[in-house]
Amino acid sequence: MKVLGVLQSPRRGGTSAALLEAFLEGAREAGAETELVDFPRLSVSGCRGCLACLEAGRCVLQDEMQPVYDKVAEAAVIAQAAPVYFDQVSAQAKKFLDRLHSFLGPELEKRMPPGKKAAFFLAYEHPKPDAYDAVMEWWAGRFRFYFGIEPAFRMTVHATGRMDEARRRELGERARQAGRRLAGG
Ligand SMILES: Cc1cc2nc3c(=O)[nH]c(=O)nc-3n(C[C@H](O)[C@H](O)[C@H](O)COP(=O)(O)O)c2cc1C
Repeated sequence: MKVLGVLQSPRRGGTSAALLEAFLEGAREAGAETELVDFPRLSVSGCRGCLACLEAGRCVLQDEMQPVYDKVAEAAVIAQAAPVYFDQVSAQAKKFLDRLHSFLGPELEKRMPPGKKAAFFLAYEHPKPDAYDAVMEWWAGRFRFYFGIEPAFRMTVHATGRMDEARRRELGERARQAGRRLAGG
C-alpha cells in the first residue's frame, strides 16, 4: 500500500511537518510504502483556469505538479498537513486542491481512482481548540465531495506557539497511530 504525505506548510520543522512525519512513520510501521512531498518547495504554479484538463483528462501545465499527479493517483492514503493563514488553509494547500481539478470531468464526474482515504492535519496559533473546525470541515469536505476520498482522520492543533514537550509527544503519538490505522495496521 502506498501512503502519500503532502506537506503544505513552508516551515521546515514546524507543527504540520512533525505531525505528517509521525503519521508516515506509523504507516511504515504498518508495512506501507510512504513518500513525503514538500509541496511548498516544488515549482508549481496556480491553476490557470484554462479547463484544458476537461478535454485532455490531465493538467496541461508542465511543471513539478506532473509527477505529483501520478503519486496522488497511486496512493491508497493521502495525508495533508497545513497551517491556518488568515483564517483559511495555507495558500499552498489551496493551490494543491485547485491543481487537482484535472481529476474532474466536464460534469464534475470523478476521475480520481476510487477507494482512497485521506488524513488532514491543521495547525494554528488560535487558543480555542475549535476555532477552525469550519475550515477543517470545508477542507476535508472538498476531498470527499469532489474526489470521493473519505476523510478517515482529522486533527486540529491549536495554540501551536505554546506547545510543550509533553503535548508535542502526545500529538505525535496520535498522528503515528492514525498512520498505522489508515495503513491497515
Ligand atoms: C501568514 C500567517 C498567517 C497566519 N494566520 C493565522 C490565523 O489566521 N489564525 C491562527 O490561529 N494562526 C495564524 N497563523 C499562525 C500559524 O497558523 C501557526 O503558527 C501554525 O502553527 C504554523 O504551522 P506550521 O508550524 O506547521 O507552519 C498565521 C501565520 C502566518 C505566518
